[in-house]
Amino acid sequence: MSSESDFDAEGIVFVDSDEEILRQTKVVFEGRVQLLESVADAESSVIGGDADVVFIGPSLATEEGIAEAAALSELDPDLLVVLVAPADVSGEVLRAAVRSGLHDVVEAPLTITAVTEALKTAERTHRRRVEPTPEPTKPLAEGRIITVMAAKGGSGKTVFASNVATLLARWGDPERVVIADADLQFGDVALVLQVDPKHTVVNAAKEGERLDGQFLETVLATHSSGMRVLAAPLEPAFADEVPTVTYTKILGMLREMFDYVIVDTAPTLDERLLAILDKSDVVLFVVDMDLPSVKNAKLALETLRILNYPANKIKLVLNRSNSKARLDVDEIERSLRLPISASVPSDGLLPASVNEGIPIVESHPKSKPARAFEDVTRIVMEARPVAQDGQKKRRFGR
Ligand SMILES: Nc1ncnc2c1ncn2[C@@H]1O[C@H](COP(=O)(O)OP(=O)(O)OP(=O)(O)O)[C@@H](O)[C@H]1O
Ligand SMILES: [Mg+2]
Repeated sequence: MSSESDFDAEGIVFVDSDEEILRQTKVVFEGRVQLLESVADAESSVIGGDADVVFIGPSLATEEGIAEAAALSELDPDLLVVLVAPADVSGEVLRAAVRSGLHDVVEAPLTITAVTEALKTAERTHRRRVEPTPEPTKPLAEGRIITVMAAKGGSGKTVFASNVATLLARWGDPERVVIADADLQFGDVALVLQVDPKHTVVNAAKEGERLDGQFLETVLATHSSGMRVLAAPLEPAFADEVPTVTYTKILGMLREMFDYVIVDTAPTLDERLLAILDKSDVVLFVVDMDLPSVKNAKLALETLRILNYPANKIKLVLNRSNSKARLDVDEIERSLRLPISASVPSDGLLPASVNEGIPIVESHPKSKPARAFEDVTRIVMEARPVAQDGQKKRRFGR
């Protein structure tokens, strides 16, 4: 997997006649590739010199679509044309693609990885000069920590964390996913997932220096999906028994033990949260669609900037995006100086799912919020882990 931070979207065009496919592609590429509805539109782009690579989407994977796409190459001999074929593409279509000289065929849906690979192939065949992609700072086989934060209470952190974790568990190996509740006073992850924890993080913290992976494993609860849960203390007073340095050590251990460590947090930008952010590979920053939330988010992000926190780790996600607040999304992006990666609409199904203890992606997988959580999860999966420990820049702490 490659990250959008080292991905040059300039000159990349995706064509598909299906609105939903265009929407999903927009989400995956965070709106940075040119999305067009027809090959005719792509033609204008090629003639205008705006396209270096054209990906022909799965809706156009027909013999007719391929004939049209092949004509694009004649407009510019250096242009790379790649078919994004559905899994069940017919042999005839594939043969037509090869015969008409399309440069590559990749499987739908189009991902950043597939684009990067296609560009590498192009480079190998000397059809196009591309800058080599920098090596990932960590092998992708290693786990990653995804922290969900917000600058205001009740923004939807726990709802995001529990739904993203559930999807990661469903789409991959549930035993490789753990959700950790870092809201040590009022954490409710176990509650919203209907898990009855026998142990909590306090048991792990009490082990002190002796704590090892084997013991940590016994402290984790198991959700009905198979994913694991590191529960918050049962009472607010116990939070003091888990020093920040211990909590971040535990997160580091979980990263060794799991592919995905999803961390739900408390709504306070304190030293504990800063230390957790320091340790995180991806930060989902939830912004509720009301003015106080946007104001707080702006202040929090300014603080992170002052502390030199790498902005490319932060993915802004909007909650209750269809709310009556009617705030302008462009304005929010301008104010926060970051793009919004995904938006989850306001929906009465969500409080109901919280009360039932079943994430909406399980109880109503086809609902709009569930679809939106799928978008958020794709963003998490596409993001590249960043080296954390022992890196050159110490950002937080004294
Ligand atoms: N998109 C949404 N539509 C409707 N209700 C929502 C939405 N997102 C969250 N809620 C509701 O808002 C409430 C708060 O959500 P949640 O507990 O996830 O917030 P939080 O940020 O974790 O809060 P806290 O700061 O207290 O930890 C919940 O009852 C949840 O059901
Ligand atoms: Mg919460």
